Amino acid sequence: MRVLVIGGGAREHALVLAMSQDPAVTALACAPGNAGIHSLAEPLGLPDPNDGEQVAALARRWQADLVVIGPEVPLVAGVADAVRAAGIACFGPSEAAAAIEGSKAFAKDVMAAAGVLTARAEVVDNPGRLDAALARFGPMYVVKDDGLAAGKGVVVSPSCEEARAHAMTLLDAGHPVLLEEYLDGPEVSLFCLVDGQTVRPLLPAQDFKRVGDEDTGPNTGGMGAYAPLPWAAPDLAEQIVADVVAPVCAELDRRGTPFSGLLYAGLALTSAGAAVVEFNCRFGDPETQAVLALLRSPLAGLLHAVATGALASAPELEWAPGSAVTVVLAAEGYPGTPRVGDVIVGAEADGVLHAGTRRRDDGAVLSSGGRVLSVVGTGGDLAAARADAYERMAKIKLPGGHFRSDIGLRAADGKVTVPTG
Ligand code: AMP
Ligand code: GLY
Repeated sequence: MRVLVIGGGAREHALVLAMSQDPAVTALACAPGNAGIHSLAEPLGLPDPNDGEQVAALARRWQADLVVIGPEVPLVAGVADAVRAAGIACFGPSEAAAAIEGSKAFAKDVMAAAGVLTARAEVVDNPGRLDAALARFGPMYVVKDDGLAAGKGVVVSPSCEEARAHAMTLLDAGHPVLLEEYLDGPEVSLFCLVDGQTVRPLLPAQDFKRVGDEDTGPNTGGMGAYAPLPWAAPDLAEQIVADVVAPVCAELDRRGTPFSGLLYAGLALTSAGAAVVEFNCRFGDPETQAVLALLRSPLAGLLHAVATGALASAPELEWAPGSAVTVVLAAEGYPGTPRVGDVIVGAEADGVLHAGTRRRDDGAVLSSGGRVLSVVGTGGDLAAARADAYERMAKIKLPGGHFRSDIGLRAADGKVTVPTG
């Protein structure tokens, strides 16, 4: 099988690494990729990864049997539809189904119809209505951009002034604002393979969105993750599939826009049950790096089964025992404007997955984005996996680089609890 991956983050590096170990894969290519991916997959030129016609033409030229689309932007733009229209199997939802991530209003509507628990929400597009709406919610305030914002469009704050200021910035930029009820409880990321009808959950994971230790500072695209969740009930994934993912997939199917690809449910385990914070239409970053480190089943075969509607006949997923931890190394300035162009020492070690990196002519690896790389540690339990990840991180040098030191720490210390009703 010839597999073309679209994207260039640590998530795509993890996907490429896993598929490079699948005996069914005869050739791997990536566009645009990054310095790490290019040591495993042929780099292909692609001026605009968000242009469906360009991606379909490239896939045809390279004779891909399967195209795997990593990021949300091309999916929301309909790139998977263009690839399928060219007669090539594609892992990733249609534009219509990707709206589950691309439009929070659409996601809320689908959840309401499916009877799925989620935060009460209100869209405000007129500054004159903002103060009354904020008063209806009260603290903690949750203020979101009602569109794609790479995880950075959200402010969660006890301060009405801060919530108001963020909402006004969005409104001034012409973006409708979503106000939401605050969901209190530990967060879970559950990734599910879905081929329209059949749903198969992967190991539940948790990610760390704030830039600083102990969840301080602004939200980012994700600073670290671990899987599985030692504090969760053993049937958590099955419960969430039954209560949340299967009803939502059935509703999308009923509307004539079945979901095919990876449906990512981001949930808070509240005293009232698992409530949806968001859906994403693709693998999450950085959880994927931890989850795939434990997957033993050949990945390309699974993704092909999803893309061709054959998931029900794919073998059961197999997992390595133990835990995995991802820690993200970010450039100085991230999540604001990152400093780029610095030489990274130690970037080519095992367990290092590249994101914002590029290779200079002399072979040196340079930083080229905000989230520069992920290290992945594994071990018999979460404490051992953490120790492994941080040992790997200690060998990497990037001027001004920063990472969180507490990824998975509270869970390893037995301090994560689920509120009871
Ligand atoms: P989103 O961009 O919707 O994924 O939100 C980013 C992060 O903000 C989430 O992972 C949560 O940590 C937090 N968040 C978003 N919505 C809520 C909510 N309704 N209640 C509590 N935290 C939230
Ligand atoms: N881990 C958060 C995301 O991928 O959106």
